[in-house]
Amino acid sequence: MTQPDRFSDIAVRFLSRRALLKGGAAAAVLAATPLGRLAVTPARAAVPSFEELPFYPQDEPTHHVAAGHRADILISWGDPILQGAPAFDAAAQTAAAQAAQFGFNCDFIGYLPLKDGATSKAEHLASAESGHGLLCVNNEYSLPHLMFAGFPDSDTAKAKASIEQIAVEQASVGHSVIEVRRENGEWQVVPDSPYARRFHATTPFAAHGPARGHARFKTEADPDGTTIFGTFHNCAGGVTPWGTILSGEENVQGYFICDREVLKATHARETLSAESFDVKQTASWHRADKRFDMNAAPHEFNRFGWVIEVDPYDPASVPKKRTALGRFRHEGATVVAKDGVPVTVYMGDDQALEHIYKFVSARPYVAADPAANADILDEGTLYAARFNEDGTGVWLRLVHGEGPLTSENGFDDQGDVVIDARRAARLLGATETDRPEDIETDPVTGRTYVAMTGGTERTATVPAAPRAPNPYGHIVELLHPGEDGARDHTAETFAWDILFLAGEIDGDAEGKGVYPAGVTKAGALVQPDNLVFDPTGRLWIATDGGKGIKAADGLWACAITGPERAVTRHFFSCPRGSEMTGPCFTPDGTTLFLSIQHPGHEKGASFDFPVSRWPAAADSTMPPRPSVVAITREGGGPIGG
Ligand code: FEO
Ligand code: CA
Ligand code: CA
Repeated sequence: MTQPDRFSDIAVRFLSRRALLKGGAAAAVLAATPLGRLAVTPARAAVPSFEELPFYPQDEPTHHVAAGHRADILISWGDPILQGAPAFDAAAQTAAAQAAQFGFNCDFIGYLPLKDGATSKAEHLASAESGHGLLCVNNEYSLPHLMFAGFPDSDTAKAKASIEQIAVEQASVGHSVIEVRRENGEWQVVPDSPYARRFHATTPFAAHGPARGHARFKTEADPDGTTIFGTFHNCAGGVTPWGTILSGEENVQGYFICDREVLKATHARETLSAESFDVKQTASWHRADKRFDMNAAPHEFNRFGWVIEVDPYDPASVPKKRTALGRFRHEGATVVAKDGVPVTVYMGDDQALEHIYKFVSARPYVAADPAANADILDEGTLYAARFNEDGTGVWLRLVHGEGPLTSENGFDDQGDVVIDARRAARLLGATETDRPEDIETDPVTGRTYVAMTGGTERTATVPAAPRAPNPYGHIVELLHPGEDGARDHTAETFAWDILFLAGEIDGDAEGKGVYPAGVTKAGALVQPDNLVFDPTGRLWIATDGGKGIKAADGLWACAITGPERAVTRHFFSCPRGSEMTGPCFTPDGTTLFLSIQHPGHEKGASFDFPVSRWPAAADSTMPPRPSVVAITREGGGPIGG
């Protein structure tokens, strides 16, 4: 399967372009290419200056952070957050307790500032307060064999978990809002905060956008198709400048069972939808909750796989599902907004050979009035990306009635288009990509980056996916029209480049990364997943997998412009069995919050036979617990130097 010749071509093309970018005399050459705009480099590029960590293997018991920084555990699975919530008791878990405690498998983190004495949301937001705020954390999925005693592995736990245990699982996923404050240099969770909230698998959500009230949204419990009960598998997300949180429902197919033959007889479109998401017969929640049996409730599945929006500043607010943003395996949803201009939301569909999307609102963003943007994500245009060989790309419009998106192909209205966004994107000719995860835009240059986690399914290269197979992933750069600092994110065209191809420094053809000079063995990474920019425009990259090089997952940082562009440096290393997720900076860049997801999750490990008890390594009664850590600089100052 390896393609050494093709690989050499990639390396030569990539490195020669890098070399060109380093030489000032190259500007004229580059200006003649479709990617000529890459020659534009800001006067001062932000470069990580910390001393990088060494390489750590996947069985390293604990976490590590670069010298001069400290990493403190802020909150762990089961810690009480709502008023009156009980302390965590691993041996006596109940759904009621879990619904008031911090959820399992923390993922995306969003930070919203709180200013003491502020009387409006606008005042809180404008304060950019970096020592007191709301931390909004996704809780992606449950792992019953690591949560409860008595199950040797995941399959047994799914088959045999009790009805009460399934209810605990349902209460452990979704999203948690906590209030946090930094006192004497240390971050603490504010106990009994009036802002604290949990959203989980039975929380009512208001359906918004084109699928609200759609025939394919109606169920026995919701005959109007306007109220959806629950959110789960919330992976990455985004913070909006109007003070809300977006969160992507990702692998929702894993919760439903479906006999396609049974369904085909009565619900052809729902069968197609199940096939598109690859629903299998391996779920467990249907044993406790009939909604998860598609044969009994064929429309319920259509109500998941969306971006949700919650307003953490208003504890009484009803959370919403924004169906205008399309339905697929949503990884995240990141917003680019400029006063007086429509809002753009970038989104990845995290499955091999699926697409990247963006949504552009119909209305312009109103910076001075957060409330004016409350439902701005309900009307606008959804797009999927097509990449061309020549380094350009086009955003394809997913609009009912245009091109093939008509009744002839099963799209009777825009509701059908957003429910089956994947099928619509494919019909339009969107490019098959390599598991697009986070998509983030640099606040300084306006360049946009897509983490492709990689995959082995690809048999041929396509534009912007230059390796086939591509087990270690890469990062794609999107350049919308305009110069750095003034890019038009509402445009329907873009240029693209590859920031780097992930992999080992000295691996074989398939496993070798393609980086600029200066990347060390520890600085090489595989399977880039979550991305975040710090306030100075440095890119931070979290990994999910570590396969091949058998490295612990962790966090790396690099500049994206200047001579150090794409020189990745190792900053944080995860404890055994865990994945790095959720990197999030405070507005001033002096604190970095990280989620350590599924510590101790390894083949053969279970609650009864753990391979890790992180973070309470010395307490033999505690299972490993997914946790959020707060990273600060010793003596203060910005993270990463
Ligand atoms: Fe939940 Fe795409 O990782
Ligand atoms: Ca992820
Ligand atoms: Ca991700």
